Amino acid sequence: MTSRPHMKDPERLTDEPGDKAGQAGPRKVFVRTYGCQMNVYDSERMTDVLAKEGYEATDTVEDADVVLLNTCHIREKAAEKVYSELGRIRKVKDERARSGKQTMIGVAGCVAQAEGAEISRRAPVVDLVVGPQSYHQLPGLLNKAKNGETVVETEFDIDAKFDHLSQAADANPVRRPPAAFLTVQEGCDKFCTFCVVPYTRGAEVSRPVQQIVAEATRMAAAGVREVTLLGQNVNAYHGDGPDGRTWGLGRLLRHLSEIDGLDRLRYTTSHPRDMDDELIEAHRDLKSLMPYLHLPVQSGSDNILKAMNRRHTRDDYFRLIDRIRQAAPGIALSGDFIVGFPGETDADFEDTMDLVRRVGYGSAFSFKYSPRPGTPGANLADQVPEEVKSARLAELQALLSAQQRAFNDSRLGMVCDVLLEKAGRQPGQLVGKSPWLQAVQLDAPKELIGTIQAVEIVKIGSNSLFGRLTDGQDSAESYAPDLKEVAFDA
Ligand code: SAH
Ligand code: SF4
Ligand code: F3S
Repeated sequence: MTSRPHMKDPERLTDEPGDKAGQAGPRKVFVRTYGCQMNVYDSERMTDVLAKEGYEATDTVEDADVVLLNTCHIREKAAEKVYSELGRIRKVKDERARSGKQTMIGVAGCVAQAEGAEISRRAPVVDLVVGPQSYHQLPGLLNKAKNGETVVETEFDIDAKFDHLSQAADANPVRRPPAAFLTVQEGCDKFCTFCVVPYTRGAEVSRPVQQIVAEATRMAAAGVREVTLLGQNVNAYHGDGPDGRTWGLGRLLRHLSEIDGLDRLRYTTSHPRDMDDELIEAHRDLKSLMPYLHLPVQSGSDNILKAMNRRHTRDDYFRLIDRIRQAAPGIALSGDFIVGFPGETDADFEDTMDLVRRVGYGSAFSFKYSPRPGTPGANLADQVPEEVKSARLAELQALLSAQQRAFNDSRLGMVCDVLLEKAGRQPGQLVGKSPWLQAVQLDAPKELIGTIQAVEIVKIGSNSLFGRLTDGQDSAESYAPDLKEVAFDA
């Protein structure tokens, strides 16, 4: 089928590849991704949708006929980055225009959803603003924008999104890197008082089990060995199962662990309130479920947890960590922390330090509270001064770094499975991931990319571990000591 700009066909992106006067070869799309893993996943799906229309991905913005910024709104700094990037891209667009080339600029992601038309007012260079639930409509939207009007699409229609995006991936089977993300749940109903996500991603929606299984199976066939299931509250997953019942995340993981070739499963991000028994048991039982859990707590103070609307106490969190560690003793815990939420006193902050000391994290992310427009926290009276936030963040990060270092040091001399993902910086070197999500560098032939190897950890660096291939048994038993046969009964 051929279509032209003047023909009304929203499903096609104007011209066929290469048939525009003065432009040879396939048209190209450049996507830059900010923010969380869900944006990484969405960017890949946008690339799939455009590939179906004949677009090739490029990592050189100067070559791109379409530039998409997939943005993040979580903190002020993240949101502001977009505008400085748009300034740089405008220059490229002007330069390309001088040689007769059109460049369409789209802003996608959470800033698009939160700011909508305001973006094109502030940055008139933008041709298209598209929220996270509308990516399946990209071809039609770009088509519209080509006719000169700025297009803004921020509707929530998540079911349509996943139906269409799955079809686009089917139409464009390509070999995938060994580790991939798979969104199973999107949106959030929790409304923590600091957070924009319920507004930018909408209400919690879970994809049906069969759709996820089909996508995971397709990924495995395309060379993926490790899948990380994604959701803003991934452990609140409650999707329609093939048996007509609602499945939780534990059950879904059990089912996915049966797929041939998918040797490793992970999931992120979890909320402490949604860690149910079935999920904890999955950590006990499933060899392919990696011994790593990102379980953000944000604060160790009951006052602040309450003000944040987290709806659990520090003791609830300690009890939960105990249950998880009982089920999966070797598990590495990770978390997110916010310092300087409005009203946070020195004593509240000390409670956070105390919680961190008691739990002991393998890794963690920590942030200064950033008041976000439209969230309840932004309107609270006793905002914490910037210098107090900075001092608290430095103190917390020193403790978390020391814990991370100690955790990494404890791997020295261990033999563990490493999924080799890509070439390293030095020739002859590959980089992979340990079961505990640490980067591991080692000398190995590139033919081993996409395989899981038993690796002895021989040195601990500041950002990664260094290993060497062993020819012995792998260490699977050391992190899944109580391996059980899992029967799938649906
Ligand atoms: N759904 C996840 C978190 C998603 S946002 C959860 O419930 O834990 C990722 C992290 O960004 C949060 O865990 C929080 O630590 C941080 N964050 C979110 N809003 C923030 C804000 N306004 N200021 C600073 N950090 C924030
Ligand atoms: Fe944001 Fe809270 Fe929802 Fe996490 S649970 S996405 S922090 S509102
Ligand atoms: Fe950012 Fe949106 Fe993810 S605000 S953290 S890109 S859900």
